[in-house]
Amino acid sequence: MDYIRESDANVITKKYLDSILIEPRYIDSKVADTKTEFFGEVFDSPVMTPAFSHLKNYNNRPLTGLEEYSIAAKECNILNFVGMMENDQFEKIVRTGAKTVRIVKPYKDNGKVKDQFAFAKEVGAFGIGMDIDHIFGEKGYDVVVGEDMTFQTTEMLAGYVQAYDLPFVVKGVLSVADALKCKEIGAKAIIISHHHGRIPYAVPPLMALPKIKEALKDTDIKIIVDCSIDSGADVFKALALGADAAAVGRSMMPSLEKDGTEGVKEFIGKVTSDLKYLMSSTGFDSVSKIDSSVLVTVSCPSP
Ligand SMILES: Cc1cc2nc3c(=O)[nH]c(=O)nc-3n(C[C@H](O)[C@H](O)[C@H](O)COP(=O)(O)O)c2cc1C
Repeated sequence: MDYIRESDANVITKKYLDSILIEPRYIDSKVADTKTEFFGEVFDSPVMTPAFSHLKNYNNRPLTGLEEYSIAAKECNILNFVGMMENDQFEKIVRTGAKTVRIVKPYKDNGKVKDQFAFAKEVGAFGIGMDIDHIFGEKGYDVVVGEDMTFQTTEMLAGYVQAYDLPFVVKGVLSVADALKCKEIGAKAIIISHHHGRIPYAVPPLMALPKIKEALKDTDIKIIVDCSIDSGADVFKALALGADAAAVGRSMMPSLEKDGTEGVKEFIGKVTSDLKYLMSSTGFDSVSKIDSSVLVTVSCPSP
């Protein structure tokens, strides 16, 4: 078994998620509807795919894992995300027909950033964005799969928002300070995330969520959360604390590797039906109505 440091944000996040309990309200409740509006489209579920990259062809199947889960997203009618990749790969993702947000890395070569955003627009991306939590690495600016990253200023981000006329999503927001800058630049959504533990002791996304929600309350910025979201109960807790949607990430990998598109469809279906069951059992018949009055937080045990 791998040695897990106490400072591991993944461990801290999972413990925090599990410290939140749910109180049922059966009387007068009806079977809930999980439909979710996002950027003017109606999706069947507030569950989203993660911005993943570098997934290979599993079990010698002809499509990469990225294409397989994108097809699953289309067939489940949920919003799809992808991360670091070249334009030819992104074109293949768009060809799956999935409504896809392309998260571009903060490349040092700013021409590459702009080229990837422009290409995304040209081939029909549903949205674009950047994972700001990959700017720094242990030796200064990060190097990701051999590619240099660099700083991003408020002005640079505002420039991307203005240039491409697509909804812009900032991924890796974990503080009110960054959330307010996302508001300033005109972002349409943020993903509250520590990117599976980019920094030690990162605040669990669900712990940061209520303060960020409050800071953005006079805006229509959508809030997505990710990190250790494994079940319908995790998604329910995120929505109750103020998120509009939640992305499953590594939790969908076993289904993806084993059964490809069908496996992911089954996994997303299970997470969504568990969410629906909890919504029905707590008296919330639609996603937008879920609130935190049904949550009980027990003291979080130390990792
Ligand atoms: C194999 C893999 C590749 C990833 N690639 C990217 C990426 O290119 N861009 C990005 O923003 N996040 C990337 N992520 C981070 C995920 O989008 C997500 O934020 C993170 O895994 C936390 O969610 P989880 O705990 O549900 O896995 C990647 C994660 C994994 C496991």
